Amino acid sequence: MSIEDLESIALAMVAPGKGIIAIDESTNTIKKRFESVGIENTEENRRAYRELLLTTPALSEHISGAILYDETIRQSTKDGVPFTQIMKKNGIIPGIKVDKGTVPLAGFPGDVVTEGLDGLRERLAEYVKLGAQFAKWRAVINISEDNPSSTAIEANTHALARYAALCQEAGLVPMVEPEVIMDGDHSIEVSYEVHEAVLRSLFNALYEHNVLVEGTILKVSMVIPGKESDEQVSVEEVAEATVRVLKTTAPATLPGIVFLSGGQNDEQSTAHLNAMNRMGPHPWPLSFSYGRAMQQAALKLWSKDMKSNYGEAQKVVHARAKDNGLAALGQWKG
Ligand code: 13P
Repeated sequence: MSIEDLESIALAMVAPGKGIIAIDESTNTIKKRFESVGIENTEENRRAYRELLLTTPALSEHISGAILYDETIRQSTKDGVPFTQIMKKNGIIPGIKVDKGTVPLAGFPGDVVTEGLDGLRERLAEYVKLGAQFAKWRAVINISEDNPSSTAIEANTHALARYAALCQEAGLVPMVEPEVIMDGDHSIEVSYEVHEAVLRSLFNALYEHNVLVEGTILKVSMVIPGKESDEQVSVEEVAEATVRVLKTTAPATLPGIVFLSGGQNDEQSTAHLNAMNRMGPHPWPLSFSYGRAMQQAALKLWSKDMKSNYGEAQKVVHARAKDNGLAALGQWKG
């Protein structure tokens, strides 16, 4: 696959007014989401729920792609059509989460590093056969008095760069995701400084590993005070700080930047994205790749009556996609 092919997939992922739905929760993470609304974590419930999301009518009006989990990319609709097939038919680009989660970084209490590089070349080849066109790897950066260490930042961005190079070798667009976690009582300034250090290190590492930025998508957290901080910041302050840190670190050749929701509520995640886009034009499209902020309202509704609320839950998914799609254009009215 040529760089032009990678670039055109990347650009399609951030087409105007469109973003990505992240439905790549591991079996353990979806268990927590299901438990919170009283759904049993069976393979059939996971399959049925992912079918509900992926077959939401007219989803591609506002959604360009969906990130799947290893189990999900192998599953089919109740009528036996593979999910990747139905996605392509409906104009949704299939993506796949390929990291294997985090482990504590030895020697650095509180820091973690993402695993999954061993055997990744072979796994990527299989995912390409299964229909994936992009892949995601999430690095987790914790903030506390002692975290993150510069060693943790480097270990994580080095892994992201090795993963990204392998993706491009396999013909997949890497979605590189450094998530600065919102837990903690840190200020917005500390969040800014950590984002700046992480993103500097990330783009250096990508460069050192011959990763083509033109065929890469950045997925990142917003610059926001810690959840336990009592600092009050406006939507505009979050938007301004996030755009500023991106402008100072991310090359203009990057085809697009998408955000994770990371525990923000639905309205906040949409309002922040909208405010950033109202401050444009920017060097790159700014869009969304939300998990919880795309799904939580629909999951709650579906859990109350899986049969009779099915269609209504899909309408809620569509409404969240529409709001976020408008926010990606700076046209959301609230
Ligand atoms: P949230 O939007 O729920 O943070 O999830 C997005 C994601 O894919 C995190 O890796």
